[in-house]
Amino acid sequence: MSVRMRSLFVARIGISRRLSSGNGGGLAGQRGKAQCAPQLPACDIEPQKYQGRSQQEHLSLRRSHLSPFTLSYYHSPLLLHHGYMQWLWDADGRRYLDFYGGIVTVIVGHCHPKVTAAAQQQLGHLWHTSNVYMHPGIGPYMEKLCSTLPPPLQVVFLVNSGSEANDLAMLLARIHTGNHSIITLRGSYHGGTQATMGLTSISSWKFNVAAASGCAPVMCPDVYRGLWGGSKCRDSPVQTTRSCNCHSDTGECQAREAYLSEFRELLLSAAPLRLAGFIAEPIQGVNGVVQYPRGFLSEAANIVRARGGLYISDEVQTGFGRLGSHFWGFQSLGVTPDIITTAKGIANGFPMGAVVTTPDIAACMGEALSFNTFGGGPLACAIGSAVLQVIDEEGLMQNAEARGTDLMLQLSDLRKEFEVVGDVRGKGLMVGLELVRSKESREPLPPTDMRRIWEDCKEMGLLLGIGGIFGQTFRLKPPMCISQEDVDFAVAVLRLALQRHTLRKSGEV
Ligand SMILES: Cc1ncc(COP(=O)(O)O)c(C=O)c1O
Repeated sequence: MSVRMRSLFVARIGISRRLSSGNGGGLAGQRGKAQCAPQLPACDIEPQKYQGRSQQEHLSLRRSHLSPFTLSYYHSPLLLHHGYMQWLWDADGRRYLDFYGGIVTVIVGHCHPKVTAAAQQQLGHLWHTSNVYMHPGIGPYMEKLCSTLPPPLQVVFLVNSGSEANDLAMLLARIHTGNHSIITLRGSYHGGTQATMGLTSISSWKFNVAAASGCAPVMCPDVYRGLWGGSKCRDSPVQTTRSCNCHSDTGECQAREAYLSEFRELLLSAAPLRLAGFIAEPIQGVNGVVQYPRGFLSEAANIVRARGGLYISDEVQTGFGRLGSHFWGFQSLGVTPDIITTAKGIANGFPMGAVVTTPDIAACMGEALSFNTFGGGPLACAIGSAVLQVIDEEGLMQNAEARGTDLMLQLSDLRKEFEVVGDVRGKGLMVGLELVRSKESREPLPPTDMRRIWEDCKEMGLLLGIGGIFGQTFRLKPPMCISQEDVDFAVAVLRLALQRHTLRKSGEV
């Protein structure tokens, strides 16, 4: 992809690579219009006043020393200096409701007191050993992690990131099966390393190099934007507005059957007869919370297994209870994978990842030496363990289900109110709001409009993610500790931002 195309994509999704010192697209001061903006829910934390270098100085340091391709959100990037649970504060003391959780990572809340205490306690004992020695944290941690998974998924490889986990999963699949080809769904994001770039199937994240060979992307069964889809296909409290004659009570889904036949057909041309594996997220994250028809993934996994391949579930965004109904995304699909990969929420923001597989598959790693300096270190295990404890003790998975369902139902009211709200979807606290020019055309809302609404939400104190190949979907994936008041606030902010958008478009302001 040319530099021009990359910058077009960046423009599309509204993230700035070149940092600007200007204000937020003419929206600065919006919060001053207090009579219009919804009131942020109360919070009794008063962070210390920020006394470090100015935002301007940080911008210039970033320009001089950080990789020029570091992505940066918002026209005037935020300088954040304090976080507590679902809240973030910038250097000027402004508070934000974080509905993006450090990119779907801060799962139990920023600086959660119990997780912070566990980290602090471990820091005072032992930071690092490497796995050539034992330390008391790792065994119990792996036992706890495995207790969330069904047998035979009981062997864990601890690593440091999602890309590293997927890289290792590819290796395991290839060594174990003796095959090379891995099937991936278009629109998926599985990492940014040279190997995982082959799995990732969004062109804007691909460099023009010979990334992992043997990765074949096939059609994404997107029931809203794809070729087929109806009003009963997905496992979500909100369905698409597309019509169909299927019967959800009998499990009939024409869209699923159409996508499966496309899947079979693509395999006939896109890959050799023998496969190493198939990797998919239970719900696509970076692509804007894309859900497939119920039953698609389990059947696709069967098709791949019949050709000798393993089914890998990328749970980097969908794990740890985020989907509400189950601890892991695959548990809602009716199929147990051969390998799962996870990262992000596993340690609430501390760098950590994991691959879990069966003893039989793991045994293939005995062929050569393998080693990971930091994976499964004492600090990571102490934090990971505290995260699991907090999710359980505080009922966060149940909270994700209740708050997420309410959020989606309220967002579906916005779909009735605004022509530009094309789709609302998701499960638990993995929620997507897709904006379009019109419901009828489903044409993505142009990037300038998306960006304006997004900046407006930020000015009112709500941080959202953006996703989708056209940058057309807001991603709402907050820490799982949010309250009902937070949900109501987020919907009120979005409603106002959409009203302002409508007014701008009708030329009234
Ligand atoms: C589904 C999925 N898999 C893998 C990755 C890569 O994780 P990391 O950025 O930790 O390498 C990401 C990152 O966004 C992801 O969303």
